[in-house]
Amino acid sequence: MTKSERLETLFVHAGQPRQWPQQVPTAPPIVPSTSFRTSSPEEMDSILGGEVPGFTYSRHANPTVEAFQEAVRLLEAGEVAQAFGSGMAALDAALYAVGLKPGDRLLLSIDLYGATMNLSHDVWGAMGLDVREENLTDGDAWVETLEKWRPQAILVESLSNPLMKVPDMERLMEEAHRVGAQVIVDNTFATPCLFRPMVLGADVVVHSATKYIGGHGDAVGGVVVARREHANRLHQYVKLRGSVLSPFDAWLLHRGLKTLGVRFERQCRNAWELAERLDRSGAFRRVYYPGLKHHPSHERATSLFGGRGYGAVVTVEVPGGRERVFRLLSRLKIVGSATTVGDVYTLCLYPRIASHRNQTPDALKAMGISDETLRIAVGLEAVEDIAADILQALES
Ligand SMILES: Cc1ncc(COP(=O)(O)O)c(C=O)c1O
Repeated sequence: MTKSERLETLFVHAGQPRQWPQQVPTAPPIVPSTSFRTSSPEEMDSILGGEVPGFTYSRHANPTVEAFQEAVRLLEAGEVAQAFGSGMAALDAALYAVGLKPGDRLLLSIDLYGATMNLSHDVWGAMGLDVREENLTDGDAWVETLEKWRPQAILVESLSNPLMKVPDMERLMEEAHRVGAQVIVDNTFATPCLFRPMVLGADVVVHSATKYIGGHGDAVGGVVVARREHANRLHQYVKLRGSVLSPFDAWLLHRGLKTLGVRFERQCRNAWELAERLDRSGAFRRVYYPGLKHHPSHERATSLFGGRGYGAVVTVEVPGGRERVFRLLSRLKIVGSATTVGDVYTLCLYPRIASHRNQTPDALKAMGISDETLRIAVGLEAVEDIAADILQALES
């Protein structure tokens, strides 16, 4: 600034960084700037033209968001990554990234998060996409569907919400690729700690970063990790739909990601111990946790996750259904009743009124979700306290 500049000019320009500091900050800086000054119009022209990487406008790219998405890209072993304002926006972008268009066919696993089903049917279906569901976890009927129906893409969760089912991912990718279908894997519940779908050949991986990646329940976001061929469509999507992740939320999610490994390892251990305690108690009609030998996906989870854990969600069937579940939820003291997973706190969710509220009775039946199903997203508290709280809430 020169002395001759007027107060009004100083208000907005004084103290503005003119160059990046020489010393590298240990933690990624938050850059909330909407736009970026380039050194010349030529430089701006080549960044906007996509000839060189760089920043011009934060709807296109932002350094804080880029630092976060690069971290997730590396963890998921992908070639490109794009962050979004939520997991749902990331799922929507993933469907666009694989090139789906009206008249194409999308095969869904029957065991998806309810809103993912609704997004596929209500939004994409209304635009002319042919959407169908199939049990991709049990039996072989899906192989015939692939052969006869020839979908362009398949959408599956590596660890399903809420019953923790695990599809045969290796076979699924093999069969899908044989008929030319791209495989989109929602890896939110497994996290790269247990499974890295792209290493096995997945085309696109999606995360609700709101969950385990962030881990502290204070930021909503999503990430798509994909191959280089998907880069243009992903970038187009964020630029044109504008479902950006804010730099502040990117910073929180990136900060959370740094402890994902230790948090998730402990949450998986807690979940396993809790599942065993609840199972032994005999208080529930059924306990679903892939670490338990009687879970239908136990062997598959053991081999796919290589002994690194079985996830951090335990789902139970509460005898008595809705009324007893509501009573249990309102009597909890330490455990919370809230509609998310992945936080440091243990939280219960009743799928019938939340994650799977809009599913038809037939769809719920096919998934195995009933009025008795209660999901427990296990946190970092002492497992003895979590178990005692849930059992007292049920008994009283
Ligand atoms: C497996 C899974 N995928 C995607 C989402 C959507 O993520 P978000 O709430 O960040 O939009 C959720 C949300 O619960 C989820 O459980």
